[in-house]
Amino acid sequence: MKKVITYGTYDLFHYGHYRLLKRARELGDYLIVGVSTDEFNNIKGKESIQPFEYRKKILEAFEYVDEVIPENEWEQKEEDVEKYDIDIFVMGDDWRGEFDFLKDKCDVLYLPRTDGISTTEVKNHIAKTWKVQ
Ligand code: CTP
Repeated sequence: MKKVITYGTYDLFHYGHYRLLKRARELGDYLIVGVSTDEFNNIKGKESIQPFEYRKKILEAFEYVDEVIPENEWEQKEEDVEKYDIDIFVMGDDWRGEFDFLKDKCDVLYLPRTDGISTTEVKNHIAKTWKVQ
């Protein structure tokens, strides 16, 4: 069984998330998603609209995701790859090169992002809409 892992915040689940996770799952037989906890987002200077538990539930209900684990710190990836016996590590290509240090443990792939959508863009769009009302 080929196991794939990917990481992210996955706030305000959108079509870019859908496409990334679908392609990641199709590379293997089992997809694990490491979702950043609210505490880890804090460390990264990021704030999600939906708390960790909600983001986790939405991903668990998505047909291409087999398991969701918390991402608590930058350093856990190496450990996760070993612990979950991962064959392929996948991220969007905005992260190109960042995780090449895992290449001695598994394949590392950066998939093209989907143009024109991101959680930040959705947030900005909502902010703009509210301003004109
Ligand atoms: N992703 C993608 N295409 C997009 C947006 C995100 O392929 N249009 C991928 C990212 O490259 C990452 C995963 O989805 O591998 C989770 O990304 P995340 O950071 O949660 O989503 P963004 O929408 O990019 O959020 P933000 O705007 O807050 O950075």
